[in-house]
Amino acid sequence: MDKKKPTVLTLKQMKREGQKITMTTAYDYGMMSQVAKSDIDIVLVGDSAAMTMLGYESTVPIDLETMLVFCQGVARAGKHTFLVGDMPFMSYEVSVEKAVANAGRIMKEGFMDSVKLEGGERVADTVAAIVRAGIPVMGHIGLTPQSASQLGGFTVQGKDLQSAKQIVKDALALEKAGVFAIIMEVVPAPVAKLVTELVQVPIIGIGGGKHCDGQVMVLHDMLGLFDKFSPRFVKRYAHLGAEMQKALNQFASEVREGRFPSQEHSFSMPDEVAGQLVAGLKEDGVLK
Ligand code: KIV
Repeated sequence: MDKKKPTVLTLKQMKREGQKITMTTAYDYGMMSQVAKSDIDIVLVGDSAAMTMLGYESTVPIDLETMLVFCQGVARAGKHTFLVGDMPFMSYEVSVEKAVANAGRIMKEGFMDSVKLEGGERVADTVAAIVRAGIPVMGHIGLTPQSASQLGGFTVQGKDLQSAKQIVKDALALEKAGVFAIIMEVVPAPVAKLVTELVQVPIIGIGGGKHCDGQVMVLHDMLGLFDKFSPRFVKRYAHLGAEMQKALNQFASEVREGRFPSQEHSFSMPDEVAGQLVAGLKEDGVLK
């Protein structure tokens, strides 16, 4: 494998040189093994696992212990990819000390290269403390799914003057706190463009238009593996759900029709031994 793992420094350099940064999610060893063979720069073990892997209605219910299990599976296959571990809801809000300790667990037990947490000005002190502890932090502003109830649902953020100004202030506060990159979710393209031009750290958009320094999309959304709903910013690059159903139905019908397993997928034994088996079992009293 000659793929070179990006670092926080090379990601910032990519912004300076105008090279787009690509990012997706993964939650387990199997999927990460495939992602690792692609040209994707960053993989997020996102709390979107609550929805894509565990079937919850939102990202709120997932806890740190569960996130650590997902991180560990991804890390075993992601040795050459820059990995970000998402801090789940309530793992960084209670106190700065708890936030630093939990970020440390994501690094030490989840084997991630960095952590991500949601919020702007309101979490800037927490971000600064985690960065001071030597942990790279990715910010996440705009639509922050963990606080969707407070934001009035999964809607576009920063459409009016006041909330657009707040997004700019959030980005500047995170940059000052020391983040190495910021995810900007579902904001009008002109706001994302302004922030991308204003800050030195890479802005990675999801529903933020084409001017961001990079783009992130949830793996299950882009591959067609999550079909409960599909937001406007999602583009399906494959239909693996349909492919899976086709394969599963083919297996089921081949088994029912006696076409699988064929000789090719079965194991033989010497005819002589097969012939002696029943007689031998009778001798041992196992068969009558
Ligand atoms: O958890 C997640 O997958 C995310 C992405 C939407 C960026 O935060």
